[in-house]
Amino acid sequence: MAKENYLVGLDMGSRSVSAAAVCEDGGGRIKIKAAASIELPKGLERGIVMDIKKVSDAVASVMEEIEEKIAPGNMHEINVGIRGESVQSVNNEGICNIIRTDKEINIEDVYNVIENAKALHIKEDREIIHVIPQEFSINKKTGYENPIGHEGTPLGVKAHIIHTSVCDINNISHVVALSGFPHNETIYHLYPLGEMILSEEEKKIGTLLIDFGAETTSLAAYKKGKIFFSKELPIGMDSITFDISNHFTISSASARTLKEKYGFALSAAVKDQQFPETAEVTAMDDIRKKRVHIAELKDIILPGLEDMLQAVKAEFETQQTPTEEPPLAYINNAVITGGGALLKGMPEAVTRFFGINETRLGTLNPELFIVEDESAHHQKYFSAIACASYPILIRDKNEFEPAKKKYGPIKRWISVVKELLR
Ligand SMILES: Nc1ncnc2c1ncn2[C@@H]1O[C@H](COP(=O)(O)OP(=O)(O)OP(=O)(O)O)[C@@H](O)[C@H]1O
Ligand SMILES: [Mg+2]
Repeated sequence: MAKENYLVGLDMGSRSVSAAAVCEDGGGRIKIKAAASIELPKGLERGIVMDIKKVSDAVASVMEEIEEKIAPGNMHEINVGIRGESVQSVNNEGICNIIRTDKEINIEDVYNVIENAKALHIKEDREIIHVIPQEFSINKKTGYENPIGHEGTPLGVKAHIIHTSVCDINNISHVVALSGFPHNETIYHLYPLGEMILSEEEKKIGTLLIDFGAETTSLAAYKKGKIFFSKELPIGMDSITFDISNHFTISSASARTLKEKYGFALSAAVKDQQFPETAEVTAMDDIRKKRVHIAELKDIILPGLEDMLQAVKAEFETQQTPTEEPPLAYINNAVITGGGALLKGMPEAVTRFFGINETRLGTLNPELFIVEDESAHHQKYFSAIACASYPILIRDKNEFEPAKKKYGPIKRWISVVKELLR
């Protein structure tokens, strides 16, 4: 196999650990070479590592699968997604006076104003992981996308700033290190995910991005082409599995199968479906078999889903600061992703519930991606693909970051030790 520089993304979800390997194809698109996933109930809880050994074994297993698919020695960077309640965001402004006589704004001025926007009152145990400029202002005139070369002072910037707990970053690093693979950067998964599945048009007209995970729901809102709001909610689609399991007193595996096979997000859509009257399931003891009535499912799913969507809507209706409008005031559309987005009728339910124009399921845009591993089309890989693509989609394009990082080839430490002992 020819040498190719693959970038790897790792997504440690509440239900599964997933990884993907991508590379630039040379024609402006991103090639998805490999995707791998392993189920991991209870290794993580809402983004927080609960069982270090379990999670690092799962990481080792998916990374080995990826390495096999791309051949060892081709891995150039591993970026890991972080999520969960400890990830928080805020919009902040930075300002700096240009005191030179010429007043022509240069890249150093831009670095300075972005540094100024980072001056937040956050606790010492937190770290800023992303500063995303929304717009610049020159001499109080707003709306500049790139101020370099213009003359004027002061230079201002509005930015979306994402910060998280240093302990959570360290725990993630620890888990990945134990798997034997050194990782490069920790990134908020929703940031590259938005760049990956929303079109430029959608980001301009006002669009919500919702990732319906097992135990977390990640929310973002875009306008004027930029992210203006992001939030991690500690609720997820496994709560519906839990309700089904309790209602029928059946195993959670059976409850999940019922939800995924026969579940519906809208009662209006249930009528048109040709479902059997009953289904065989396993009782809570994991031994006895029993039959349940499928028609009863809607009475459990719909109220649970309504509570969830209500909690999501409440976030989108909230004004973050007195000067900012709530996301629902500027939103027209929504794009949904994550395993929970696959519940039948979910796009229609989101449209109706939020009173917006349209909701679509996130997909891999063929103008951006060449998919060589067909399994990558499944929602559960999207966060891993987004983290893998982060350097191409965002970091290496960002002219406002001082030094662009370049990483060399990565090898699993165990393989390096084996080679040394040979
Ligand atoms: N076809 C389907 N219909 C309905 N629900 C589904 C379907 N496929 C998966 N799900 C649900 O999606 C959830 C898992 O989603 P996902 O794989 O995005 O979670 P995760 O990334 O592991 O978790 P999190 O993002 O919360 O950390 C589970 O509740 C699962 O039952
Ligand atoms: Mg997820």
